[in-house]
Amino acid sequence: MAVNLDFAGQRTAYASHGMHSFAARFPPQLARWGIERFSDLGERVLDPMVGSGTTLVESRLLGRHGLGVDIDPLARLIAGVKSTPIDPSGLAAGLSAFHARARLLFHDLRLAREHGIPFHDAFREVAIPDFPNRDYWFLPNVVEELALLRHLIDRVGDVTLRRFFYLAFSSTIITKSASSVANVRDLAHSRPHRVAPARPPDVFRAFETRLARLERSMAEFAASSDPRGSARVIGDDARALPLPDASVDLVFTSPPYVNAIDYPRAHKFSLFWLGHALGTSSEAYRDLGRRYIGTDRVPLALCRTLARRTSGLGALDRVLDRLADADPRRAGIARQYFDDMARVIAEAGRVLRPGRHAIVVVCPSTIAGVSVPTHELLAALGEMSGLLSHVETHSRVLDDAKRQLPIVRGRFGPGMRTEYVVVLRRT
Ligand SMILES: C[S@@+](CC[C@H](N)C(=O)[O-])C[C@H]1O[C@@H](n2cnc3c(N)ncnc32)[C@H](O)[C@@H]1O
Repeated sequence: MAVNLDFAGQRTAYASHGMHSFAARFPPQLARWGIERFSDLGERVLDPMVGSGTTLVESRLLGRHGLGVDIDPLARLIAGVKSTPIDPSGLAAGLSAFHARARLLFHDLRLAREHGIPFHDAFREVAIPDFPNRDYWFLPNVVEELALLRHLIDRVGDVTLRRFFYLAFSSTIITKSASSVANVRDLAHSRPHRVAPARPPDVFRAFETRLARLERSMAEFAASSDPRGSARVIGDDARALPLPDASVDLVFTSPPYVNAIDYPRAHKFSLFWLGHALGTSSEAYRDLGRRYIGTDRVPLALCRTLARRTSGLGALDRVLDRLADADPRRAGIARQYFDDMARVIAEAGRVLRPGRHAIVVVCPSTIAGVSVPTHELLAALGEMSGLLSHVETHSRVLDDAKRQLPIVRGRFGPGMRTEYVVVLRRT
């Protein structure tokens, strides 16, 4: 039976969904459809590439036990905070204590500036982080103000509240609009390019505005969460899931697209500031960038070797051979992508209980003029694993206004406007 999964014009920022920008999210209504149709109350729903946590939030709202995995440390923070309800009175008390301390400190900062006292003399205990091109991407005053805020947040005693503040902090930098306090625009969607702000940003004000919005979102989420459900981020690599065989009831996920969105490149703007809180450093994060599925950071020599390898799946090898003739480098990147996705699909099959479903939401693409039907190839990889059989595929039209996927032309082919919801079942 044909179902309409477009959800055109529907509100996607309800509950905690809109708390932080994130590229290529799927609409919460899509996760809701999958969870309601393919799982029951109290069952375990896994998203092995959980991104901003849409599946976890919906699992929590629907009384399921959501489990999330993502390689990106910022994604793990966002997914965790968004799917952990905070009691509104505790949150209000935490926020007002924070505001009181922040107001005092920012007052001192104004005085110090008026009297020409250098920041490090006025605030000896506040560390200013050092990272590549810091003063290119952030104005000097912004650096000082972010350092003050971070100093305050690091000292919030309650870990749930502290993580909530880190999320608010990150969302003043990574935004969809021109309102980032960094010298960049639309960090959530594009490759960062420098844009000098018309006026110096007021970091304290931007942060307070974000906090007020996030407080409302959290209140809506906490009020509508089903206490029979739960949500947890449990790991970092979809290719090696920290779960026993046959232990989950539904896998619902959307993988990255080949060579399309560079999460580390955009997220580093928050990671520079929050690395200490997320257990990473600028250098470690740069190295981690090569391990993301879909990355284009595959060394050229490896691309050449990969480009002429075979997978054992005729349809995939035919597409990738055509691509190798057109563009060996991209063929290597795509081969690496499908090798990785074969491992993810096999892992999904391993952890699913027999008879249960894995749903993969994915876009086809055109790379160097060669059409790559990713949805068909992933379904075929599922069959090839011997663990999953293909049940059905639905298509959905993307809502241009929401820009949930990058409409990248030229390099990546025509804009991605149709995506597919591939339903597989554990044999
Ligand atoms: C399209 S996004 C998922 C968006 C998510 N559905 C949402 O609504 O926010 C794909 C995610 O895959 C993650 N990813 C890439 N490589 C991964 C890996 N090896 N293991 C787990 N996650 C990975 C990326 O960090 C990114 O968050």
